[in-house]
Amino acid sequence: MKAIILSGGKGTRLRPLTYTGAKQLVPVANKPILWYGIESIVAAGITEIGIIISPETGEEVKAKTGNGDRFGAKIEYILQDKPAGLAHAVKIARPFLGDSPFVMYLGDNLVQSNLDLFLEHFHANSLDALTLLCPVPNPSAFGVAKVDENGRLLQLVEKPKNPPSNLALVGIYIFTNTIHKAIDSIQPSARGELEITDAIQTLIDWQNPVEARQIRGWWLDTGKKDDLLEANRVILDSCLDCNVEGEVDDRSRIIGRVHVGKGTKIINSTIRGPVTIGENCHLENCFIGPYSSIASEAKLLEIDLEHSVILQGAKLETIHHRIVDSVIGQRAHLREADCRPKALRFMIGDDCQIELN
Ligand code: G1P
Repeated sequence: MKAIILSGGKGTRLRPLTYTGAKQLVPVANKPILWYGIESIVAAGITEIGIIISPETGEEVKAKTGNGDRFGAKIEYILQDKPAGLAHAVKIARPFLGDSPFVMYLGDNLVQSNLDLFLEHFHANSLDALTLLCPVPNPSAFGVAKVDENGRLLQLVEKPKNPPSNLALVGIYIFTNTIHKAIDSIQPSARGELEITDAIQTLIDWQNPVEARQIRGWWLDTGKKDDLLEANRVILDSCLDCNVEGEVDDRSRIIGRVHVGKGTKIINSTIRGPVTIGENCHLENCFIGPYSSIASEAKLLEIDLEHSVILQGAKLETIHHRIVDSVIGQRAHLREADCRPKALRFMIGDDCQIELN
């Protein structure tokens, strides 16, 4: 069994963060979204992983993620030179995949479910495709499945105006090599892409064994700011590894589940978990409230912050108002002059400089 993870795309819904970086590298609880997918695949016993990258962000994904050693896996990178669809990504991964069955994982998804049970079901029933589903309130934003009472897939439609059910395709699929034949037989869709939904529909039409199973627990598609904050909240709630490796002075208070990375200094501040703070940060005279993630090298002086994500190297100084529900990009610099605005809510991209007057 092998796996491919799709880590291309332009991430338009997460702009401006994704003007300067890959959406799959945006951190959730200080870990790139992509790495959760890698860990989940490795936990299911699959260690040969191909990551599909784009010319725009591929080098960054490669540099950050490496050859797989840190995950106990062997990672190869496969360049998709244009965003020509999910089925196109499988096509270009074919030399890597050979005739192996494989998991296809969209790199901006986070799921709570383990993959093991789905892999077992796939093998035990000799399926050619198994897709994972999750009920959602807004199915039109996703690929949508119609299934019979036994879980057999009857129909798949991509972003339908009139969805046949509320079951969205989670971006995780399991295939045998038969999918390649189905991909060879499809044409680009109206939006000019080779759609994986069309290839799976072809398997259904050929009456190959294709099923769908609902995942248990949460599924987070991290495409937009609020999704990202929600993913951050859920991960901090469920999987925060708490230990304080940095220096906390005796005027500071650490309350609840808090992680503080090496080299970080916390001076005269209160941190109320769940909160994760990366390495080599400097926090002075701050209150950091629940569900905040502060990436490495950040500097926060006189800041009151809650339910927010601060990316690497950002600098926030002397803001006289609580910052909530905010995402602040890498190296952004934010400081307030004298007056006191009523409320502040931000989506600030990398390298921004903001001064509130
Ligand atoms: C893709 C798939 C869609 C699926 C979704 C899950 O859409 O095409 O079928 O439901 O991922 O995240 P995208 O997010 O690329 O619009």
